[in-house]
Amino acid sequence: QTGGRPIAPNLATCHKSLSDAGRPVFCCPPKRESEESVIDFKFPSPSTPKRIRRPAHLVDDDYLAKYQRGVTLMKQLDTSDPRNFMRQANIHCIFCTGAYTQVNSSHLLNIHRSWFFFPWHRLMIYFHERILGKLIGDDTFALPYWNWDNPPGMIIPHYYMNGSFVDKDRDHAHLPPQVADISFDYVESGLGPEEQIESNLHFMYHQMVSGAKKVELFMGCKRTAGEEGECDGPGTVEVAPHNALHTWVGSNLQPERENMGAFYSAARDPVFYAHHANIDRLWTVWRKLRGNVPEIVDPAWLDSYFYFHDENAQLVRIKIRDALDMDKLGYGYEDIDLPWLNARP
Ligand code: C2O
Repeated sequence: QTGGRPIAPNLATCHKSLSDAGRPVFCCPPKRESEESVIDFKFPSPSTPKRIRRPAHLVDDDYLAKYQRGVTLMKQLDTSDPRNFMRQANIHCIFCTGAYTQVNSSHLLNIHRSWFFFPWHRLMIYFHERILGKLIGDDTFALPYWNWDNPPGMIIPHYYMNGSFVDKDRDHAHLPPQVADISFDYVESGLGPEEQIESNLHFMYHQMVSGAKKVELFMGCKRTAGEEGECDGPGTVEVAPHNALHTWVGSNLQPERENMGAFYSAARDPVFYAHHANIDRLWTVWRKLRGNVPEIVDPAWLDSYFYFHDENAQLVRIKIRDALDMDKLGYGYEDIDLPWLNARP
């Protein structure tokens, strides 16, 4: 079914917004983005080497030293630079708490709990990755993915305990070597490591296979211009493991389980980017399981567009239709087993 108009943010409207618990938050950029020059997105040249994202539990020390240097440099940039780490985190706050109004509409723009969930987060971490690569002078740099759907990856990767990867606002009972409960809902499962792993694999099978047989079940409901608030149907994986792990990682001592547990603060924790790399990867896995047919051909989705700053701090306008082909975007994922694929409950 097609119909409805594409969504886009009105950059002149950034304003105070509300946290998940309804507390006022302000995450707008210091300078009005509507006064910056904007270019339309162009794919990187096909001759540039591909960035291959690897599982976080398998990366080596040289890679980690580079990645860590990138995060440190990002944190050191002035906040007037949109590539600054906190500014990067605030993009998530802006789009996930409704800090922009939609173009030609008085409705707020929010990208969660709908069919914008996968492509918008893909783009956010895509530009983040390119910025890191630029800061460390490596145009093959690729983010790691937190492979929490695979037993050896079911703990917070150890390196998040070091240097600029640390976030003190995490639930201390969930730090390594605690096995993650990927369907966590504020209550401890009480399972031992073996049972938790079992339960996680069955859960993955449901969220990726048996419970995700229809496009809307996986991608989330259709949301078009002016309809903010009307469509409220997150996809299987968005609810959990996605939301569940945000909550699980965030601090039990903070009112909204900040940082990871709340939209406005989630991307302040460096683990956010590896979490979302895995979400992004699972989108491609789900797509492959259905034979790589385009999941959505509705122009209201394909023509919706967003803005991000690229590695040169240039504001770029990009449509969802340009976010669908990883090859063209210049990155990919190292293949790994899908142990849940045969874990029919
Ligand atoms: Cu916009 Cu992981 O959330």
